[in-house]
Amino acid sequence: MNTHFILRGFGRYAPERVMTNADLEKIVDTSDEWITTRTGIKERHIAADDQAASDMAYEAAKVALADAGMDASELTHIVCGTFTPDAMVPSTACRIQEKFGIKGQACVDIAAACSGFVYALETARGYIALNPDSKVLVVTSEVISRRMNWEDRTTCVLFGDAAGAAIVTAGEPGEGPEIKDIRLAADGSLGDLLTVNGGGSRYAYKLGETVGEEFFVQFQGREVFKHAVRNMCGICETVLKDNGMVKADVDVLIPHQANWRIIDAVGRKLEIPAERVFSNVDRYGNTSAASVPVALSEALDTEFVKKGDTVLIPTFGGGFTWAAALIQF
Ligand code: COA
Repeated sequence: MNTHFILRGFGRYAPERVMTNADLEKIVDTSDEWITTRTGIKERHIAADDQAASDMAYEAAKVALADAGMDASELTHIVCGTFTPDAMVPSTACRIQEKFGIKGQACVDIAAACSGFVYALETARGYIALNPDSKVLVVTSEVISRRMNWEDRTTCVLFGDAAGAAIVTAGEPGEGPEIKDIRLAADGSLGDLLTVNGGGSRYAYKLGETVGEEFFVQFQGREVFKHAVRNMCGICETVLKDNGMVKADVDVLIPHQANWRIIDAVGRKLEIPAERVFSNVDRYGNTSAASVPVALSEALDTEFVKKGDTVLIPTFGGGFTWAAALIQF
């Protein structure tokens, strides 16, 4: 098998409403200074009350399809990474399909938290490897504001809402950015360090019950931080080694945008100069599975990433899950 996996188009969407650190100062006991120095975040987008994950995914997907010069009817699969789906059933991928007015495609959601985009890319590679005619929409969308405890300053300042998308098909080398390799990993024994438990079958609510704190994102920040840096660096070294490459071969690093200190620490450990590490966390906060495609599409639009660049993308999220993608632009 010698299939080449080509990324045909990229798209991103962020809701209109912007919430600054100054806005947060009015809601919880925090400060722009604390948020900026601990996280690098200055503002984040917040979905409108009537916007769900599929609405934002649809917007990002339309841009990606236009960028690829494709019509939605050409798609064979829709893979949606999200931990804030429209509903338990139907899947958000099915809702996206419905919005496009198309039928018949395989539609599936991927639950890998902040690693969702790279996990979804690998799923796309699997479909294409099995059937080279596959044309896969990989889309990630998060409405994390709905799962934020707006009374908890330790979590609510960190996240934002957004969606990102890419189209993956088989192709010839040089036809477009090529996914050279992907590595996925997880450690379920550390799952309790980052959770959204409420509403699941273990923490179900009875009719009429009000939600508790477990309905929202909860985590042990320092532990998450430590594991994130260690595992993102480790999986990057693995994917480079397996492809006969060294750190100096990486032109651009686009890590999951959780926190500037995590991004900076990963860049330093991988010895990638700061000017080659992409970050937009200051304007989006942590948008979980959406962060990588939003960052990728901005990095392309601003020519931070250029044709010929080797781009390394490490991610880390709840589960714990982590992943790395190696893309040749
Ligand atoms: N504003 C002001 N003070 C805050 C605050 C806020 N928004 N949030 C926490 N604090 C306070 C704490 O109460 C604590 O006060 P204390 O010393 O009086 O107890 C102090 O700041 C330090 O808190 P701590 O949690 O130790 O800070 P930290 O340096 O570890 O930074 C995070 C906290 C959350 C920014 C950091 O741990 C982190 O980024 N973790 C990863 C989280 C993440 O991104 N998760 C998603 C993973 S993909």
